[in-house]
Amino acid sequence: MTDRPITTTDAGIPAPSDEFSLSVGPNGPLLLQDHYLIQKMAHFNRERVPERVVHAKGGGAYGVLRITEDVSQFTKAKLFQKGQETDLFLRFSTVAGELGSADTQRDPRGFAIKFYTDEGNYDLVGNNTPIFFIRDPQKFSDFIHSQKRRADTNLRDHNMQWDFWTLSPESAHQVTFLMTDRGTPKSWRHMHGFGSHTFLWYNAAGEKFWVKYHFKTDQGIENFTDAEAAAVVAQDADHHLRDLNTAIRNGDHPSWTVNVQIMPFEEAADYRFNPFDLTKVWPHGDYPEITIGRFVLNRNPENYFAEVEQAAFEPANLVPGIGASPDKMLQGRLFSYPDTHRHRIGPNYLQLPVNRPKSPVHSYNKDGAMTFANPADPLYAPNSAGGPAADASLFAGENYRIAGEIIRSAYARHREDDDFVQPRALWENVLSETDREHLVGNIVGHASAPEVTAGMRKRVVDYWTNVHKDLGQGVAQGLGLS
Ligand code: NDP
Ligand code: HEM
Repeated sequence: MTDRPITTTDAGIPAPSDEFSLSVGPNGPLLLQDHYLIQKMAHFNRERVPERVVHAKGGGAYGVLRITEDVSQFTKAKLFQKGQETDLFLRFSTVAGELGSADTQRDPRGFAIKFYTDEGNYDLVGNNTPIFFIRDPQKFSDFIHSQKRRADTNLRDHNMQWDFWTLSPESAHQVTFLMTDRGTPKSWRHMHGFGSHTFLWYNAAGEKFWVKYHFKTDQGIENFTDAEAAAVVAQDADHHLRDLNTAIRNGDHPSWTVNVQIMPFEEAADYRFNPFDLTKVWPHGDYPEITIGRFVLNRNPENYFAEVEQAAFEPANLVPGIGASPDKMLQGRLFSYPDTHRHRIGPNYLQLPVNRPKSPVHSYNKDGAMTFANPADPLYAPNSAGGPAADASLFAGENYRIAGEIIRSAYARHREDDDFVQPRALWENVLSETDREHLVGNIVGHASAPEVTAGMRKRVVDYWTNVHKDLGQGVAQGLGLS
């Protein structure tokens, strides 16, 4: 006798053997009546859920947000009130690679936070860049297809990537970020996070503001050069996952300072840039960052599948005091995430521990595959049986007037809207001489892949010349086209 527990089937019945199938004689064929063997093999065949269609490779950790400043004049959201502490789960990821792909590939990094607030889950599903490649969700699947694998060879293809980017000049700002060394962060701990979109905040009096979130790493920005990142790919595909897990296990808890930019509601209409265009930042000279708190990651997940793979973030999870903006990309995302979760995990994904809110749920939804949160009667509203009743006053402030013709069109231009003006500012005013050299080198390296045609390389030079003539010249030289 040992004090080890006895192996059981998933129904709790003692298992007959850990090693041997039921056979006719020692050499004989196996028997269908070996229910335990069949359960084991059948369950194994079903171990995977579909990987995320984007952001498949990642890792995450739990933590806590602490608000240190009073921003009640801007939002009544409880999680942002001074002194408030809110538990959170943060998942980092790469975008294009599959589950198991290397962490240090050049790519934006996902920075998805789920805040378990007293008023339900608030999900901020951002990236490590303040902007994105496109500004209309109509182009999202096309953009992703250009970054993923070809239909014929199943290989990734830089020609296809440059084809999409050069035909989509709105991508220039994000591609500039991507091609700097910030496209290959040293670790998830050493990068900033951004909410990226513009969101609506409203206070208890119903006054409205537009807001952008910036999460500034307290560890400092650290990046790999292209060559360093490539070397790490060869050594350890899970470098970022290992780094985060090890740091937290050793008590070295990473943290981020939470900053916001606030724009009074009325200023949006006449602002020099379209403030809802996801390819643009709000320059700090116009809207400085205000620190409101800090969050720290202090606990590793105990089960990767349950807590990271099954984590389901959705930009539509907005709590009272916070609303959507007319950003077309955000509008598209409000649909996309819960839709993919129903497909990837199942209709009751919100009942899983990592997704379940810490506040009570009183929903009229019921049943469906694998539910175990079964509500009591009444199961309809309105009812006279004392069931839950919605409180519209919680959302007073969310309303605003929008009018216009129903059309398919680009955003109406604001005074200084232009696809190149902000990446040009990055090149001219922000990047150091070394950053610029590395940017040129990284672009040249990427566009030198053998599949990139001579015609495409010319388009690449034109694209970068539009950002800045010196940048275009550097790329042309590097590609042997000057
Ligand atoms: P500022 O000089 O006030 O801000 C520049 C910003 O760039 C800072 O947030 C800085 O913060 C960040 N930065 C520094 N080095 C790099 C780098 N190598 N790659 C990317 N970002 C970097 O200028 P403006 O606000 O007027 O913006 C000028 C340009 O800076 C913008 O066109 C945009 O490209 C870029 N930028 C602007 C941001 C914004 O929200 N306004 C945010 C990030 C970039 P840090 O070093 O801490 O990242
Ligand atoms: C993941 C769609 C734009 C950040 C995903 C997933 C989908 C998706 C379907 C997989 C989710 C899952 O299976 O769990 C879209 C669409 C977009 C868009 C349709 C535009 C219309 C963006 C933008 C950002 C972003 C602009 C950042 C600012 C993320 C992150 C994840 C993700 C961080 C991973 C979330 C996680 O860790 O589970 N996106 N996306 N996406 N997306 Fe987007």
